[in-house]
Amino acid sequence: MCGIVGYVGEQEAVPILIGGLAKLEYRGYDSAGVAVLQGEKIEVRRSVGKLANLQKSLKEKELNGTVGIGHTRWATHGKPSEQNAHPHRSEGCVLVHNGIIENYQPLKQQLENEGYKFHSETDTEVVAHLIDKYFQPGVKLAEAVRAATKDVRGSYALAVISEREPGTMIAARAGCPLVVGTTATASFVASDVMAMLAHTRDVTYLEEGDLAVVTATDIHLIDIEGRPVKRKLTKITWDASAAEKGGFPHFMLKEIHEQPQTILDTMRGRYSYDTGEADLPDIGLTPKEFAAVGRIWIVACGTSWHAGLVGKYLLEEMVRTPVQVDIASEFRYRDPLVEKDDLFITISQSGETADTLAAAREAKEKGARVVSIVNVVGSTLARESDGVLYTHCGPEIGVASTKAFTAQLTALYMLALHLGRVRGTLAVADGKAWLDRLVRLPVLVEQVLGREAEIVAIAKRYYKKRNFLFLGRGINYPIALEGALKLKEVSYIHAEGYAAGEMKHGPIALIDKEMPVVVLAPKDRLYEKTVSNLMEVKARHAPVIAFVAEGERELGKIADAVFTIPDTHPLLSPILFTIPLQLLAYHVAVLRGADVDQPRNLAKSVTVE
Ligand code: AGP
Repeated sequence: MCGIVGYVGEQEAVPILIGGLAKLEYRGYDSAGVAVLQGEKIEVRRSVGKLANLQKSLKEKELNGTVGIGHTRWATHGKPSEQNAHPHRSEGCVLVHNGIIENYQPLKQQLENEGYKFHSETDTEVVAHLIDKYFQPGVKLAEAVRAATKDVRGSYALAVISEREPGTMIAARAGCPLVVGTTATASFVASDVMAMLAHTRDVTYLEEGDLAVVTATDIHLIDIEGRPVKRKLTKITWDASAAEKGGFPHFMLKEIHEQPQTILDTMRGRYSYDTGEADLPDIGLTPKEFAAVGRIWIVACGTSWHAGLVGKYLLEEMVRTPVQVDIASEFRYRDPLVEKDDLFITISQSGETADTLAAAREAKEKGARVVSIVNVVGSTLARESDGVLYTHCGPEIGVASTKAFTAQLTALYMLALHLGRVRGTLAVADGKAWLDRLVRLPVLVEQVLGREAEIVAIAKRYYKKRNFLFLGRGINYPIALEGALKLKEVSYIHAEGYAAGEMKHGPIALIDKEMPVVVLAPKDRLYEKTVSNLMEVKARHAPVIAFVAEGERELGKIADAVFTIPDTHPLLSPILFTIPLQLLAYHVAVLRGADVDQPRNLAKSVTVE
C-alpha cells in the first residue's frame, strides 16, 4: 500500500505535497518522491528511505511550480531504491501509483517490443509508457489514461500530469482508494483524505473505474467508458488524528477491518484459474527443486509462529510432506538436524526479527533452501532468502499483528496450492476448487466484520475477568494460541491457548466460574470431541464463549455466548475464526483502557535476542 498526493492551484506545490505525504507515511515509507511542473518542464525528485530524506534534497535544490504530484512507497514490485521510487515518467507523462498491476509483465514485454525503454523494476512504470502509447497528437491526456487503464488488470490509484497539458492532472482508481478535494482556487488528490485536511474538508471519494480530470477550479468525473458521472460531495468532520486512522479510533481496529482487502491483495496476480495453479515468480525454487524436497521446516516467532503451525496442517494435508514447525529462538540453539535440500520456510511480518534471521542463516549453512513469507519488501530476511513470498498487506502499525497474520495464512494457502500442484498431490480440478474457495474468503471475512457489535457485547460481559482459556483442535489449535496471544498482549489479561484434547491432562484444574473459556468449534471431523470438551468445562461452571459454524444449534443452548462463523472448507476456517478473536481482544482492551496500538513492554519488531 503506498500513498499518493496531487495538487493543482495557485500556491507552491512542494510544501503542499510534502505536507500531504507526511500524513500518508503510515501507508509506506521505503522511498518518496515528487514531480512539479516547473516552467514548461516537469522536474522529478526522489529519495530512498523516509520522507525526511526527500525534504532534505528539496531544501538543497528547490522545485518551484503550482502543479505537482507526490508519492510515499510501500514496495511490492522492485526493491526499495531511488530507481524504483515514484514518480515514474515516460515521454508523454509523469505519474504516481498505488496498487498492483497483475499483468505488468506481458504489458512490459509488449511495450519493450514496441521500443519503449524501461528504467525501473516496477509495475508502475508500465502504466506510464502505456499512457504514452495512447497519448498521440490530438488525444487528450484523460483519454490516454482511460485507454491505458482498460489494458491493465489489477488495482490502481493514479495521479498523472503532462507537460503537454500544463494545468491539468488526471486521477483514476480501481481497487485502491482515491479522493479529490477542492477549494475556490485549488484542487487536491490523495489516497487518503487525511493528506488534504489542512486545506479542505470538501471532498469526493472516487468509485471503482472513476477517472477525474482535475484543474485548479474544476473537477470533472467520468467512468471507465468515458461517460460523465456524479459522485456525492462529503464534508469531513474528523479531526486529523482520527483521519490518520481512517476514522477508526486505533490502527489495530483499522488494520482488522483492512483484512478483506489485504487477503485479496496477497492473492492478487498470483494464480491462474485455468490451470488451477498458484503463480509465485519470486519463490526461488524451480518445480523440479520443489519436487525433490524431502521435508519442510517452518520457523518463526510469536504470531508468525502461529501462522507456521497452521501451515503444518495445510501442507501435510495438501502436499503430503512432513512439516516440522519450530519457534525460532528454540531452533537456533539446538544444533537442529536440517538436511541438505530441506525446504526451510521462515515467516516474519517485519523481516527483521533477530531469532528468525538467525534461524534462517543456520538453515542456509546446513544446506537447506530458504523461502520467506515476509511483509516488508527488501527487509533483511527477504534479501537473505533463496525465495520470497510477500504478503501485500501494507505497513502494519499496530504492535499486535492482525492483517499480517491473515495475509501470512493466505500466503501459506497459495504456497500449499503451488506445492500440491508441483508435487502432484493436487490435480487441476483440486487446484480450481481451492482457488474458488480462496477468492471467496474476503467476502466471508467482510461478513464477520459486519457483526462486530456481537463481539462488543461479549467483550462487555467478560472484560473484567483476570484469566481466559482458549481451546481449539486440529488446524484451529494454533488459532486458540493466537486468540490468547492477542488478548494478553493488548489487554494484559492472562490468557492461555490449549489443544482442547489436553484439558483433562491438567488445565481443567484451573476451571471455575471466574475463568471464561473460548472454544473454537468448526463443523469438522473433530466437532463431537470439541463439544465434549465444552461440556466438561461447562460442568465446572466456567462461562463458555463458543465460536461455532453457521447453522449450529446445539452449542447455542449450552454456551453462555455464541458467535457463528460462515461456512467454508475446514482448512480455511482458521482465517475466519481469527477475525472475531482479534475483535474480542481489541474491544476487551479498549474497555480496560489499555494502550491498544502500543501495548506496554512490546515492540513492533523484535530485532534483538
Ligand atoms: C504479534 O501480535 C506480536 N506483536 C509478535 O508476536 C510478532 O508476531 C513477533 O514478534 C514476530 O514478528 P515478525 O512477524 O515481524 O517476525
